[in-house]
Amino acid sequence: MRTQVAIIGAGPAGLLLSHLLAQGGVDSVVLETRSEEYVAARIRAGILEHSSVELLESVGLGARLRAEGDEHRGIYLQWPGERHQLDFVDLTGRSVWVYGQTEVQKDLIAARKKAGQEIHYEVTDVALHDIEDSPYVTYADKNGQSVKLDAAVIAGCDGSFGPSRAAVPAAKAFERVYPYSWFGILADVAPSTDELIYAWHPDGFALHSMRSATVSRLYLQVPNGTDPQSWSDDQIWDALATRLGHGQNGWKLHPGPITDKSVLPMRSYVQTPMRHGNLFLAGDAAHIVPPTGAKGLNLAIADVALLSRALVARFRENDPRLADAYSETAQRRVWRCTHFSWWMTTMLHTSGDPFDAELQLSQLRWVASSEAGATGLAENYAGLPIFL
Ligand code: APR
Ligand code: PHB
Repeated sequence: MRTQVAIIGAGPAGLLLSHLLAQGGVDSVVLETRSEEYVAARIRAGILEHSSVELLESVGLGARLRAEGDEHRGIYLQWPGERHQLDFVDLTGRSVWVYGQTEVQKDLIAARKKAGQEIHYEVTDVALHDIEDSPYVTYADKNGQSVKLDAAVIAGCDGSFGPSRAAVPAAKAFERVYPYSWFGILADVAPSTDELIYAWHPDGFALHSMRSATVSRLYLQVPNGTDPQSWSDDQIWDALATRLGHGQNGWKLHPGPITDKSVLPMRSYVQTPMRHGNLFLAGDAAHIVPPTGAKGLNLAIADVALLSRALVARFRENDPRLADAYSETAQRRVWRCTHFSWWMTTMLHTSGDPFDAELQLSQLRWVASSEAGATGLAENYAGLPIFL
């Protein structure tokens, strides 16, 4: 089998890349180790930057987003006794959209199917070969048949546990592991807020997000290794009510049936370079951010926007310049988002150290009261243009 771009991974990075390449007249084959149902149902984050929405719309992926997503002007910053709204539109002219990654994934799968994109699900033993000269991928298809896929380029969009990351020789890795995790719940109850609430509290961080007018998504800071089954539903709602300021200025948190519980560890990870020979990494294969800045999905989208433009230029105009600059260009945004995600995480999660707590509160007061401080957060959260 032969194609122009062999894409490993059918997450948002891999599927969007195949979509953007097809728009540019470049063929690809997508290989995915999980089933289509599993990939479509995975619960992940739900905030889209202004630039991500613009990009998705520009390639025909905006209809359901606009119809079913929710445009938000900004977020609330909360700490005991105080809640402040940061209006990103006033501060930067840019809004954000609440639209679950699961929905983006569904739109991508539907669009790729409609376009007749070749996606091979449930493949195993994926291995990359000869990435410097004549690259090819070997794998076993869902029936156990061995396959060799020749390609001019391999795109590693296989996340943090796939083979592509390790295929970059002498890569440099930067990592920060945080001493706490997020306990995330989905609940069949109308959100108790019109925009996301990021809350600092001595008991730990909390976030009130949502998926729709009837489904809420909420998170609590918990110690690493917490078993999601070890908290009763009442304990979860009590902790959320305390940390989010239930009763403050008459605001109420409305509990409801919890339909999903999970605990996710928090870390920042960056690998460089994001390209070696004919192998290009994008998304979680190259970097991981803690979810506090809502950057994971948006960074994957920005990576493949840059990569597709570079590969279309390489294949269609025989111009390698953008491809040669891909890693350096993408890394600028990667570190900007890595810094912002680290900054939000360390500003909002308690360490138990009273000195840290006073520093965090002082920073929150500054961000909420200074136009310069608020604009800094807004600019990063709403997202910078992809093509700078
Ligand atoms: N062969 C084929 N596919 C693989 C392999 C393999 N050996 N290993 C992993 N994969 C697949 C995974 O099953 C997954 O579907 O690669 C895909 C990687 O997708 P994601 O993990 O969603 O990563 P990415 O597309 O980069 O999207 C990043 O997803 O995890 C969130 O917070 C993250 O929002 C960010 C976004
Ligand atoms: C979510 O809706 O799941 C979400 C929103 C904002 C974040 C992280 C997660 O920062």
